[in-house]
Amino acid sequence: MEGKSPLPKGASAGDRVEGSSRFYKRARFTVGSYDEAGRPDAMNAAWGAIYDNDQVVLCLDKSHKTTRNIISSKAFTLSFATVDTVTSADYVGIVSGNKEQDKIGKAGWTVKMSTRVNAPIIEELPLVMECELVRIDAEEHIIGKIVNVSVDESVLGEDGKPDYTLIRPVTYDPVHFNYVALGNKVARAF
Ligand SMILES: Cc1cc2nc3c(=O)[nH]c(=O)nc-3n(C[C@H](O)[C@H](O)[C@H](O)COP(=O)(O)O)c2cc1C
Repeated sequence: MEGKSPLPKGASAGDRVEGSSRFYKRARFTVGSYDEAGRPDAMNAAWGAIYDNDQVVLCLDKSHKTTRNIISSKAFTLSFATVDTVTSADYVGIVSGNKEQDKIGKAGWTVKMSTRVNAPIIEELPLVMECELVRIDAEEHIIGKIVNVSVDESVLGEDGKPDYTLIRPVTYDPVHFNYVALGNKVARAF
């Protein structure tokens, strides 16, 4: 995808340069899916974002088991990895379900099937978007429609809404290859 050097000579962070997809990363996703035998899989995805009000886009390599699963099941889940689940979330980004059939078990996760889409909900991850496949575009981006969002009660704030300071999602820093915690409120917007 990109070379090891984070910035071309003379460029600074935020410049519009080749490889600038390294910057401005949002929460890193865990993508959940079922294979044709109904076995759950999950993978790490940093190259993904909100695409429209109720749509998401993912850039997934064709070699991943998840990519094949999404094409056959026409669905997937997207969860935020969190400070508390970062080790397992990293594991599913290193090991492929093509080689390890019990990847979810080895990650220490349990799943239940979404009631809305044909995809697994990872019970240890507190916020999950349940998505159905809309299309795969000419550049092979996977576009999904969010049909439901499930949130664990433990991360709802006093107003009953998901609270970032309780979820404590992590993002991926592709410059230094680290996971970085999000979730500190610094000011009110609007
Ligand atoms: C921090 C991190 C971010 C990643 N982001 C992506 C991504 O956006 N797209 C992608 O195709 N692979 C990405 N990967 C690689 C997959 O998560 C990895 O190859 C995984 O083992 C695929 O699993 P599967 O074959 O079971 O689907 C990432 C890995 C890590 C560690």
